[in-house]
Amino acid sequence: MIVLGIESSCDETAVSLVNDNKEILSNIVSSQIKHKQYGGVVPEVAARAHLSALPFILKEALDEAKVTLKDISSIAATIGPGLYGSLLIGSTAGKALAFALNKPFIGVNHLEAHILTPRLLHNISFPYLALLISGGHSQFIAVKGINNYKILGTTLDDALGEAFDKTARLLGFAYPGGKHLEELAKSGVLNKFTFKPPLLFSKSCNFSFSGLKTAVSQKIAELEQSNNLTEENKANIAKAFEVAILASLKAKTTIAVQQFKAENGSFKHFVVSGGVAANNSIRNMLQELVNKHGGNFYAPPLALCGDNAAMVAWAGIEKLKLGKTSALNAKVKPNLNLEEII
Ligand code: KG4
Ligand code: ZN
Repeated sequence: MIVLGIESSCDETAVSLVNDNKEILSNIVSSQIKHKQYGGVVPEVAARAHLSALPFILKEALDEAKVTLKDISSIAATIGPGLYGSLLIGSTAGKALAFALNKPFIGVNHLEAHILTPRLLHNISFPYLALLISGGHSQFIAVKGINNYKILGTTLDDALGEAFDKTARLLGFAYPGGKHLEELAKSGVLNKFTFKPPLLFSKSCNFSFSGLKTAVSQKIAELEQSNNLTEENKANIAKAFEVAILASLKAKTTIAVQQFKAENGSFKHFVVSGGVAANNSIRNMLQELVNKHGGNFYAPPLALCGDNAAMVAWAGIEKLKLGKTSALNAKVKPNLNLEEII
């Protein structure tokens, strides 16, 4: 069984071929650089860029996998959440291919693709606890099976990746600045500055990051005014931001593990995924914490943390095995929720 996956929910145009032996035959990701000058993704620009890139990315993915369209069992494409125009381009291409090849089409939830990715690489049984941290989402999810997801906690305002990107922007990095901020924090001195970790004492595993971003921007303005926004202090700010984020993630993950145990009887596996899961300080802290609670820790390799189509193809395989295919008129849904059955 070979499934062709298409991902186009935001600013990555991606096509991948994955088989049911868990082999990634190809995984092509083209990141749109056109948005850098605007400091964020411009929806119209993104949709047009997907349209012009997709045919080439598709051909590259097939060539690299050394398969032809005839060898494909099914086509899976992201149908939400994401930017409406961007979702339309990828999913319409997927439906058109499915129609022309007379193969099943599988609509995939982008978030479900992120949280199922570790099952492509390891034998992880349901239920498991997932932490999805990306540019658009920050959620704890009890993954009980395919199409059976329960959100245990979510962000009340900004997503974690968004907080990284906004803070990075204040420090002069182009979008998306998350990985630059991680790099910068390495040379920062601990406790030169401190920011209060958000929602530290609340009993839920919900997040909030917008207050932290405001505190960082106020500190930067203060340093600028006093001519103290030196390269060293930028690194110290990045360090203080990281420390606050780690404290918040640690507290919330502890609550989520307890909640998961109470609802599911035991806690065996923990998965972190999404673009921010590429952050090594976060991975290391989570691994230590999860092991302390007796759980196995899984994080995808860096290439599969950010948006890619191998995760979409894999979610397609998981669904196809259970006969969960979609109609060719399945609608895209920009605000698609993980708990909605598609
Ligand atoms: O999953 P993803 O590729 O796209 C969404 O679905 O949102 O996540 C992108 C996010 C961006 O906010 C980016 O800055 C962040 O992941 N990111 C990081 C790192 N690498 C990517 N954030 C912190 N540290 C990193 N190393
Ligand atoms: Zn994503």
